Amino acid sequence: MSAIAVVGTGAVGASVAAWLIAAPDHDVTLCARTPFDTLRVETPDGVLESQPRILTDPAAAQPVDWVLVVTKTYDASGAQRWLDHLIGPDTNVAILQNGVEHRSRFPGIDPARIVPVIVDIPAERRAPGDVVQRRSGSLTVPNDPAGTAFAALFAHSPIDTILTDDWQSAAWRKLAINCAGAVNALTLQPSGIARDAEAAELMRALIRECIAVGRAEGATLPDDLPDSIVEGYRNSPPDSINSIHADRLAGRPTEADARNGVIARLGARHGIDAPLNRMADVVLRKATSR
Ligand SMILES: NC(=O)c1ccc[n+]([C@@H]2O[C@H](COP(=O)([O-])OP(=O)(O)OC[C@H]3O[C@@H](n4cnc5c(N)ncnc54)[C@H](OP(=O)(O)O)[C@@H]3O)[C@@H](O)[C@H]2O)c1
Repeated sequence: MSAIAVVGTGAVGASVAAWLIAAPDHDVTLCARTPFDTLRVETPDGVLESQPRILTDPAAAQPVDWVLVVTKTYDASGAQRWLDHLIGPDTNVAILQNGVEHRSRFPGIDPARIVPVIVDIPAERRAPGDVVQRRSGSLTVPNDPAGTAFAALFAHSPIDTILTDDWQSAAWRKLAINCAGAVNALTLQPSGIARDAEAAELMRALIRECIAVGRAEGATLPDDLPDSIVEGYRNSPPDSINSIHADRLAGRPTEADARNGVIARLGARHGIDAPLNRMADVVLRKATSR
């Protein structure tokens, strides 16, 4: 029996929580900002519905075996308030968020306890506790004992857990895809904008900056990544909207710092300028600040 707390019960948090609750041997607590009674997730394998244990006050939380942090990157300080109560001597902490800073985003936690997780589970929230999970998707973790133990939590579920010997390169490849998405968020145009030659060249230039910084950080990234990513955008449904674009449309904060700003910030450590990603971060943050 594993005691598991899920901090953040939005699109991805609700999806993974529903699958964990469905397992016979997990004791799951949801740590939510906005409470709800029924957790209902439409998955490709059917509807998962439950009345989970939900806490809304971090002070009421007790140490568990596993904490899964599934807030947006910009809500890390709110998640930290939960972690202060949920972490005991043997707790592992999985961070299911975008970007490449899963460990440094939580400086108060021993990095050895943290399992960084690359999320590829497309999901949308319709209302608190009411989520549509579009694909079974995957969670990618380092191929080490903690990553293996994390993967075992999902052994009963259709979510694919991928153990990789080079997590850093996988995270930077995902970041390269995500950083190009700034073109959609800035122009408020869906994926089809990548079929426009000027927009495609801007995406490639953002990705080239990402590759230069990622390589300096130790990631292995192929030379043809800009072309293959733009090709991927061109082959996706022309009306599909990425999450940073959706956040901007909804007037929510965006993860621009974790998707673009990070490239400029980490680049500065290596003397690599990344002006396009810096511009994307600044403009998106200013455009969505209130
Ligand atoms: N959705 C996807 O398809 C997808 C795919 C790949 C990766 N990701 C990544 O996965 C991460 C999570 O994304 P998401 O789409 O699940 O975001 P989301 O739907 O916005 O959910 C985030 C959840 O965190 C909650 N939260 C924020 N501060 C909190 C606090 N202090 N205590 C407790 N809960 C708190 C929010 O509460 P409220 O209910 O009050 O808003 C919300 O329920 C992000 O880094 C995202 O980029 C998402």
